[in-house]
Amino acid sequence: MSHDQDGFPNLVLVTGGAGFIGSAFCRHVLAASDARIVVLDRLTYAASLATLDPLLGTGRVELEVADVADREAVNRVLSHHRPDAIVHFAAETHVDRSIDGPDAFMRTNLIGTFNLLEAARIHWQRLSLADQAGFRMVHVSTDEVFGELGPDGAFHEGSLYAPNSPYAATKAGADHLARTWHRTFGLPVIVTNCSNNYGPHQFPEKLIPLTLLNALEGRRLPVYGTGRNIRDWLHVEDHARGLWAALLRGVPGEAYAFGGGAERRNIDVVRAICNRLDLLRPGRAPHAGLIDHVADRPGHDYRYAIDATKARRTLGWTPSFAFEAGLEATIDWYLANKA
Ligand SMILES: NC(=O)c1ccc[n+]([C@@H]2O[C@H](COP(=O)([O-])OP(=O)(O)OC[C@H]3O[C@@H](n4cnc5c(N)ncnc54)[C@H](O)[C@@H]3O)[C@@H](O)[C@H]2O)c1
Repeated sequence: MSHDQDGFPNLVLVTGGAGFIGSAFCRHVLAASDARIVVLDRLTYAASLATLDPLLGTGRVELEVADVADREAVNRVLSHHRPDAIVHFAAETHVDRSIDGPDAFMRTNLIGTFNLLEAARIHWQRLSLADQAGFRMVHVSTDEVFGELGPDGAFHEGSLYAPNSPYAATKAGADHLARTWHRTFGLPVIVTNCSNNYGPHQFPEKLIPLTLLNALEGRRLPVYGTGRNIRDWLHVEDHARGLWAALLRGVPGEAYAFGGGAERRNIDVVRAICNRLDLLRPGRAPHAGLIDHVADRPGHDYRYAIDATKARRTLGWTPSFAFEAGLEATIDWYLANKA
């Protein structure tokens, strides 16, 4: 149980490390430090072994296939590996699935987070005072816990919680548990709330990879309602850097909001993908002819945007990707990695 001479944790437990953001975080930690990583992941449909295998191949990452909703399994992993830090990504994450079947969201996002906090508390309380002081847990959450914005303003760390989807409600509940385990038990937990991520390795059920893969196959491109809903896009590698900064420099009990300052209407994101494919795959141009406006998602939030001033000022974090360049690179990555 220790930190190296640079102050980096020696062993980081990453739940959900086989998923989209968790795996990007692992790649960042491997590049930015000498830390070793234990990935705790149930390997659901959203996990990617193709993404995980190169991480395991470094010899610095170990996989524990386990369910965060299984308290005994979580306790076993913590007491066996004795991590210096925990970063909690594991979650059911797709809003549409949470509407069709919320049970898995309650189980993983609420019970799973509760189990992890309890296991972390027991682990942390058994540490020496010096190791207790260095221990951190980062609970990774979303801006969707704050509900929706009108045309103006942006969410920040003080925004009121007002979740609208079953997904957002379970994430909101998990955030409250994390906050409580700090306040009541002193566990050094940091909560982060981030806007929509994009980038390589995302499971093709979310807007950008779904649109891209459908367009490549000449299938319809479903867009909810008018497509005027606005999201604030952040490249997944910028999010990963922000989470590492929060782990190293964040204050326990505090929350940090991350966003890319890249507000785009969904329809404009879909059109940008179509325009890029018209250039790269002109055979099917114009891809925008495949756009299909479908019945709106129930409870669909109109707009999300993040004011990331606190993360910029106190963590020294700034996003590095401009959205258009990041989107082009993401499209190129999917074209090169279709399998
Ligand atoms: N994707 C986004 O735009 C976004 C934005 C802000 C916050 N977040 C949050 O970031 C985290 C990661 O999101 P993502 O997009 O990488 O998710 P993802 O769906 O790509 O991956 C989730 C991972 O968690 C694992 N998992 C699911 N249930 C589990 C369980 N019961 N036990 C152990 N592992 C389990 C899956 O196997 C998968 O590897 C989530 O907590 C999500 O709420 C996501």
